[in-house]
Amino acid sequence: MEPILRIDNLCKSFGGIVVADHIDLTISAGEILGLIGPNGAGKTSLFNLISGVVPQDAGKIQLQGRDIAGMSLHNRARAGVARTWQHMRLFRTMTVLENLMMGPRDYPGESLLGSVLGLGRVRRAETAAHAQAMGILERMGLAQTAETIVVDLPFGQQKLIGLARALMNDGRLLLLDEPMAGVEGSNYETMQRVVHDEAAAGRAVCVVEHNVGFIKDLCTTAVFMAQGKILQRGTVDELTRSRELTELYFGTAEDAA
Ligand SMILES: Nc1ncnc2c1ncn2[C@@H]1O[C@H](COP(=O)(O)OP(=O)(O)O)[C@@H](O)[C@H]1O
Ligand SMILES: [Mg+2]
Repeated sequence: MEPILRIDNLCKSFGGIVVADHIDLTISAGEILGLIGPNGAGKTSLFNLISGVVPQDAGKIQLQGRDIAGMSLHNRARAGVARTWQHMRLFRTMTVLENLMMGPRDYPGESLLGSVLGLGRVRRAETAAHAQAMGILERMGLAQTAETIVVDLPFGQQKLIGLARALMNDGRLLLLDEPMAGVEGSNYETMQRVVHDEAAAGRAVCVVEHNVGFIKDLCTTAVFMAQGKILQRGTVDELTRSRELTELYFGTAEDAA
């Protein structure tokens, strides 16, 4: 499989806290990699480093062979890094559609670029973004929510809208930070189906999730992280069977036995 993300020797500390300790990681097209580990392990920080929220201290980050480590958040999004946020970051008083329309990768919007390109081109981009947004909402069975103010939706649907907004970026890497937290029932099934379909369409997906059931249902492989280090990579079953990891994360080995 074609490697989409390749990280070599990535290092980052905040003062005395090491959040990335010589991390090497490759994620390939079609792969859904689970990223698990205790609170404070550095999982969100890893997503922040990949997507350009914070700069790394050292190391390489390549997206489809292209070095993105020095790029801004915005340029990494344009290069094809799509992500969701642990705390959603939706514009809660705007409609679902308005939230999604902010997400496309190459959207001129109301920028200076827009005025240079001309109104015609901006309108065409807007029409395309609208169609893309409605297509994503339809896939999630949420087309009827397009004009709803986000804050008026149930929590599970808000989480799906967070994913929908990330999917407006149709790049090859998709980073999902705790997408299932608080999501149940039909929303859970929708989340699972959509993530699966994105990988099948050729994205490389990485999912941080505490819900081991979800990781088991969805991921072929997983990595276990603690204190900024990747301690093990393997199948989800291998990781949950590991005595060391069990003690660190899944309760005591005796509990799990
Ligand atoms: N911008 C930051 N500045 C200072 N410390 C941070 C910053 N981001 C994360 N941290 C610290 O790094 C550690 C790892 O956090 P995080 O990556 O959010 O862990 P996880 O997502 O695995 O729970 C925590 O101790 C957190 O407080
Ligand atoms: Mg986190």
